[in-house]
Amino acid sequence: MTVTDGGEFLLLGLTADVAPGKNKAFQLNGHDVLVCNVNGEFYAVRNLCSHAEEKLEGGRIRGHCVVCPKHGARFDLKDGRHRTPPAWTGIATYPLRVVDGRIEVQLNPQDPPAPGRVAASGT
Ligand code: FES
Repeated sequence: MTVTDGGEFLLLGLTADVAPGKNKAFQLNGHDVLVCNVNGEFYAVRNLCSHAEEKLEGGRIRGHCVVCPKHGARFDLKDGRHRTPPAWTGIATYPLRVVDGRIEVQLNPQDPPAPGRVAASGT
């Protein structure tokens, strides 16, 4: 197993578990991690909306954002930044890599960029 500055990468699941345009929640060592598949690119974020602490699992994927299924806030999967209200802060992200069809993450969540200016939406 590879050890990096952020700690070990741990097996979370398989890429086949998360279809393109979908997401799936995984629990590992007390972390609730949402893995999103954006056209074959995989991202891992904390499965908890910063607005009212609802689960993000099942939220639509739009571009590189996940849409909270409860009230519709969008979060950028690349860095966890919030993109639209009603959320005013972002969500944590997890370093993720794919090795031979396995999704591996480091369980050291990265804070999103500080709240404030919302960057122009990308894809
Ligand atoms: S709980 Fe996610 S937008 Fe309200």
